[in-house]
Amino acid sequence: MDIVDVGESAIAEAVERLQRGEFVGLPTETVYGLAADAGSDLAVARIYAAKGRPQFNPLIAHVASLEMATSEAVFDERARRLAARFWPGPLTLVLPVAPTGRVCELARAGLPTVALRMPGHPVALALIRAFGRPLAAPSANRSGHISPTTAQDVVAELGERSGLVLDAGPAQVGLESTIVAVLPGEPVRLLRPGGVSREALLTVVDEISVLPAGRIEAPGQLASHYAPRARLRINAVAPEPGEAFLGFGPHQCEGSLNLSRRGDLAEAAANLFAMLRTLDDSGVASIAVAPVPEHGLGAAINDRLQRAAAPRA
Ligand code: TXA
Ligand code: MG
Repeated sequence: MDIVDVGESAIAEAVERLQRGEFVGLPTETVYGLAADAGSDLAVARIYAAKGRPQFNPLIAHVASLEMATSEAVFDERARRLAARFWPGPLTLVLPVAPTGRVCELARAGLPTVALRMPGHPVALALIRAFGRPLAAPSANRSGHISPTTAQDVVAELGERSGLVLDAGPAQVGLESTIVAVLPGEPVRLLRPGGVSREALLTVVDEISVLPAGRIEAPGQLASHYAPRARLRINAVAPEPGEAFLGFGPHQCEGSLNLSRRGDLAEAAANLFAMLRTLDDSGVASIAVAPVPEHGLGAAINDRLQRAAAPRA
């Protein structure tokens, strides 16, 4: 276990480890990922093992250029427009695998589709470029836990298993990427709300459908996910005795944390996981969270809060 600041030598060390089939803790603008060679079943298997993740969940392959992306997947006109507008950035496209695609079966969980993202973080892009091939990288947390937004969170989640973690400070977006499927013969489908809002997507495509209830394609869609240890009570205007409180805007109370005092949803998204983690680490049995408006990034914040509050499996 090793947290290193990012410089050329750290990137070189990371590339060597990736070439040996090891994983590396990767800063992205959304959350920290656990990155490994997306083309290697063995390397990907090590990610699943470290995360304790159910094997049927496919991973996102991170690319550094459109050229790398189009050799992995088939882009139709809509996918091209979305990539042109939102890449690099917090948008993941689920697309048909291209004949030249090299993302391994295990990373795709055997699906004929592949999830691609070009991260908007200079360190992530530099590492993928230096490695020269896509990196599979799920969020670097134990399966079902809160996603890490700092290098220290990665180590807290994975301990000795975390290996080399590139430390580029706190993740700026703080929420995972939005995932949309862009597949032939169907409208663009929102699989997971995230760093790019539905409203923003609709400036580029005419129609976005939401997955029919009950079908699980992304584990972010499992009812209980992103769970802290403490119980979570959402849409709370004030804490009950003994409860910690996570405020938003005007809903706050003395001595408690606030996602964004000025009611800024981007600031709230960036603070969400770190603040949940801090309150959880304080050992309280229950965390009450103030109401967060449902527009823009609020939809993704509420999605994560609802899953964190859901009855545990
Ligand atoms: O912001 C993010 O997306 C972060 C950073 C590290 O890039 N990554 C992330 O990865 O959140 P992960 O593995 O925690 O979530 C990936 C999601 C999963 O919900 C998975 O089911 C979905 O992507 N996914 C991957 N491939 C898919 C596919 N072919 N079809 C449908 N969903 C897919
Ligand atoms: Mg995750």
